[in-house]
Amino acid sequence: MLVPMQSVKECCYNAAMNDNFPQMCERLANELRKASRILCLTGAGVSAESGVPTFRDAEGLWEGARPEEVATPEAFERDPDHVWRFYLARRQNLVAVRPNPAHEVIGRFEQIFPEFDVVTQNVDGLHQQAGSERIQCLHGDIWIDRCTECGHEERATSVAEARPMCPKCGEPSRPGVVWFGEMLPPGVFERAVELASLAEVVLVVGTSSQVYPAASLADFAKRNGAFVAEINPNATAFSASADLVIPREAGKMFPELESRLAKIVQK
Ligand code: OAD
Ligand code: ZN
Repeated sequence: MLVPMQSVKECCYNAAMNDNFPQMCERLANELRKASRILCLTGAGVSAESGVPTFRDAEGLWEGARPEEVATPEAFERDPDHVWRFYLARRQNLVAVRPNPAHEVIGRFEQIFPEFDVVTQNVDGLHQQAGSERIQCLHGDIWIDRCTECGHEERATSVAEARPMCPKCGEPSRPGVVWFGEMLPPGVFERAVELASLAEVVLVVGTSSQVYPAASLADFAKRNGAFVAEINPNATAFSASADLVIPREAGKMFPELESRLAKIVQK
């Protein structure tokens, strides 16, 4: 019987959820155990269980705001107050959030594995709060104010009432994030490509794999021979290319993975 693609995906996903989750974690733990270089690529989904909205899910940030109105240099030029309201509201939401078990296990993996790196599209700082130090932030840092005139950067320590001005030259500052149509921070994507080319295992966590160039990294790693596992409760643009798809929330999967790894090590 022919059924629409979405239904096939949904029924595979549900079946996998119920039956194979422990075996999938066991398989991934075994792959990790064999690897000497591991890369964890993350997107908004890794922070979802901390209470940070994703972009493209139901009630995601792009449902209430159009990216071209708040996340492009043209939008900032047209209406900086509007753009800043969006980013100040996101900062306000971040004040109370904490890393979840996925961030925490990922942070601990850096201590366990000799070469474990994170490349994230997230700007929320939660990986760093959970202890990740080997981290490349492809899309910048939402807590940075960057001067549009002199380039001076200042880390915001609280959420301002109004849009910030540069303390050095008095000109308007902008959020230190990467907007659509802009280049990624110098050297960061190059380092991410290098990590993707060296990694033996890549974990693709909580990203819809729709935004380039970040989305190209998983494909690149795969072409370079990595074992690539996707952790995401929903199918994505990358799912069909993954060696293993674990259709679970990151905050549920990582603790299970960590305890399976511990058992393998004990054996
Ligand atoms: P998206 O909102 O596109 O995708 C979030 C993904 O997380 C979806 O595939 C969800 O299924 C998945 N997800 C949701 N909850 C999850 C959970 N608990 N555990 C694991 N996965 C979960 O976000 P990104 O792919 O990160 O860029 O978006 C990429 C970029 O697009 C962002 O960095 C941002 C956005 O526009 C800019 O603003 C420049
Ligand atoms: Zn300045």
